[in-house]
Amino acid sequence: MNTQVGIIGAGPAGLLLGHLLHLKGIDSVILETRNKEYVIDRVRAGVLEQFTADLMTQMGVGERLHREGMRHDGVYLSFGGKRHHVPLSELTGGKAIYVYGQNEVVKDLMQARLATRRPLHYEVSNVSVIGIDSTKPKIRYQHNGVDHELTCDFIAGCDGFHGICRPALGDAVKFYDRTYPFGWLGILAEAPPSSESLVYTYSERGFALFSMRSQKITRLYFQVPPDEDIRKWSDDAIWEEMLKRMTSCDGWKPNVGSILNKNVTAMRSFVVEPMSSGRLYLAGDAAHIVPPTGAKGLNLAASDVMHLGRAISAFYCTGKTDLLETYSATALKRVWRSQRFSWWMTQTLHRFPDENPFDYKRQLADLDYITSSTAALTSLAENYVGLPMDVAF
Ligand code: APR
Ligand code: PHB
Repeated sequence: MNTQVGIIGAGPAGLLLGHLLHLKGIDSVILETRNKEYVIDRVRAGVLEQFTADLMTQMGVGERLHREGMRHDGVYLSFGGKRHHVPLSELTGGKAIYVYGQNEVVKDLMQARLATRRPLHYEVSNVSVIGIDSTKPKIRYQHNGVDHELTCDFIAGCDGFHGICRPALGDAVKFYDRTYPFGWLGILAEAPPSSESLVYTYSERGFALFSMRSQKITRLYFQVPPDEDIRKWSDDAIWEEMLKRMTSCDGWKPNVGSILNKNVTAMRSFVVEPMSSGRLYLAGDAAHIVPPTGAKGLNLAASDVMHLGRAISAFYCTGKTDLLETYSATALKRVWRSQRFSWWMTQTLHRFPDENPFDYKRQLADLDYITSSTAALTSLAENYVGLPMDVAF
């Protein structure tokens, strides 16, 4: 079997890349180890930068995003019991964020892929890549008990943080890593959102975040130890802690409702450099992880894919490899800027087990400065809606 681009992983990165290539008339095969339901149902973050929403729109997969997604022109930072509004659109020349679950993004992309009738295989196993330094690298895998070998011009490693592609880059790569001494306990609750905007709270008891998925579903998080056992937390105890951290002096608090889903996620920052070797190119979580505080994970996957799609398409149009050669450096520039922002949001809004009273006061001063300086607030808004980037593929 042959294809132009073998794509490993059918998360947002793999599906977006497949569709982008399709729009350029480039053939691909997408391989995914999990089943369709698992990929759709896993609960992930749900904030799209302006660029990601624009990219989806221009790729023709933004129809439901604009119908059902929620455009947010602002966000709140809450500390010392007071909520401070950050007018995102006003500070960024009309840009916004869009609250639309990652599983909805995946559903839309899955449907778009099916409509193209190009191959997308779920529940493959024993995936490996061979000959990435040659001009015809191969992917070996099993599907329905049968061994397959797929010969490609290029392989895209979109297989997430635990995939097989990053280890296949070999020894020449460098890793940059930071783990945080906390995780997030997250819930989906059947309760109408009590605020029209997200609320990031820094409280003496630790970080908490108010978000949403729809007019009926609230999404909430709070900081816990990284290895916290979710079974320790009854629903009542979760609500009690959530309300203690979030209730502000003006009486605002999230609406309480039945908990539909709860889990704990550890947090880390991670980057591999370079993001490619030979004809294997990584995109998305396969190459980098950000802590969720800045809501950048999915957005970085989208920007990687746009650069990679453009580089591959330029190769087929002109035979030139210059964009492929600079892909890693180009993608990493945005990755590091988003890493910086995600780290900053994380270290400003969380309590650290080894902090001292100076750190606590410094964090409060940081938040006080940001919310009282137009220059600082503009910088926050610019990063939060996503640093300027044109959609071009
Ligand atoms: N072969 C094929 N598929 C694989 C393999 C493998 N060996 N290993 C992992 N996968 C699949 C996973 O099952 C998953 O569906 O690759 C997919 C990777 O998807 P994601 O983890 O969602 O990563 P990505 O597409 O890069 O999306 C970026 O942004 O908000 C963040 O972490 C969040 O998913 C997120 C993302
Ligand atoms: C979410 O809605 O899941 C969400 C929102 C903002 C974040 C992280 C997650 O920073």
